[in-house]
Amino acid sequence: MGSKPVGRLVVVSNRLADPRKPAAGGLAVALGEALQSTGGLWFGWSGRIVEGGTPGEGELHTQQAGTVTLASVDLGREDYHAYYDGYSNGVLWPVFHYRLDLADFDGDYIDGYRRVNQLFARRLLPLLRPDDLVWVHDYHLIPLAAELRAAGCAQRIGFFLHIPMPPPPILAAIPQHDRLMRALFSYDVVGFQSRTDVGHFTAYAQAELGARAAGEHRLEAFGRRIHAQAFPIGIDVEAFERLAHGREARDAYTTTRSEYARRRLLIGVDRLDYSKGIPQRILAFRQLLSSYPENRNSATLIQIASPSRENVDAYTDIRRELERLCGALNGDFGELDWMPVRYIHRTVSRRRLPGLFRASRVGVITPLRDGMNLVAKEFVASQAAADPGVLVLSRFTGAAEQLEEALLVNPYDIRGTAETLQQALTMPLPERQARHRALIERLRAYDVHAWCGNFLSALDPSFPADFMQRARARRSRPPADPGRPAPASLPR
Ligand code: G6P
Repeated sequence: MGSKPVGRLVVVSNRLADPRKPAAGGLAVALGEALQSTGGLWFGWSGRIVEGGTPGEGELHTQQAGTVTLASVDLGREDYHAYYDGYSNGVLWPVFHYRLDLADFDGDYIDGYRRVNQLFARRLLPLLRPDDLVWVHDYHLIPLAAELRAAGCAQRIGFFLHIPMPPPPILAAIPQHDRLMRALFSYDVVGFQSRTDVGHFTAYAQAELGARAAGEHRLEAFGRRIHAQAFPIGIDVEAFERLAHGREARDAYTTTRSEYARRRLLIGVDRLDYSKGIPQRILAFRQLLSSYPENRNSATLIQIASPSRENVDAYTDIRRELERLCGALNGDFGELDWMPVRYIHRTVSRRRLPGLFRASRVGVITPLRDGMNLVAKEFVASQAAADPGVLVLSRFTGAAEQLEEALLVNPYDIRGTAETLQQALTMPLPERQARHRALIERLRAYDVHAWCGNFLSALDPSFPADFMQRARARRSRPPADPGRPAPASLPR
């Protein structure tokens, strides 16, 4: 480590992952490495829902995973419903993705959200040591630092928002917006995915909370000074490249290439979420087939949409809409030997994905709004430098601020997106290579290790500068038990 030993890292997130298990998401791995290097603690929901549990109560479980302690709390059915389905995914998720039309402001969701944050704070506090660094993740846990502070916690606490931060007038539609946002001032560092998000947060804090700018990345309000900055999250490029050379990825590549030998593939991979712009993508593909008939019997869109949050109504609706659009497209344009769209409503193993990406000429990542979108980065990292596919990326993703050499589209503009799909399908090899070279360089410079290291050194400037290298060295060691199944990944 550096000259002065740093404190133990404590990560708090709604979902937990066991860092001993082989690579799930790059994010879970990077956090796991950061935790391992400080003998850290990972705290969150256990994944268990207790029927008839008392509201605001939940048993704590601890377990050792190598040098990392995993501590998790069960949730009663009522708390889980109000906190997870209700407030997190029925209010915050749609509003933060600019979808006021889908937000459900009724009900007592906010009470359940507060109860669970208070429960987390009560269970976590006794586990903390005086020199711990606490890093809280995502919208489920915005009030956590305020709850911890109210109970006397003085440790440094950082927060990272993985989803977008909407402009002030949209945020202000949340009935409890001021209390919610004020809670962010209990953190020491508040990190966002993009400069756009930081701009929205700063404008909101100044207009609604009376905050004032206090130097670069600094805001002051309520007698506290916080550090607010963009820390765009990246992927573990090397680990992903290794995955791409693994047996399952190679098999997926060979099978896909031979099955679609006469076709040009376009691919989209998302959670089935209304923020991902999948219906608009299907319509743009349909428009491509109408405007450029030479693509018929040739271009094929593979759309993988993994099931997600199925207890929330808006997710049932998007599923139905998508089934209808794909059915109509295949019915109207399909031939006996060619179906334009292959829609798969299942989760596909992470180990196969790089093979599918590599076999595709175009990656179509066109969310209506997305905090970052790591699939876009994984698509780029999967490509063969000699014959790379082209990334078509929504300008409304955090990734678009970095991946300038992708073909950027406005996903609401169906015709415009169709034109860009045609440009991608017909792009000459030298241009594909030049764009890919620039993109992959950027991915390496801003990978997940850099993200982790930059955030942690903002939270504690004595955090060792060689953190990334150490994390990399750890990463290259074989996993403790490669035979175990892949863990539930942290989000993408
Ligand atoms: C997004 C969020 C994550 C969340 C993930 C999957 O990426 O930022 O916090 O974990 O979606 O959603 P789920 O509701 O299944 O955790």
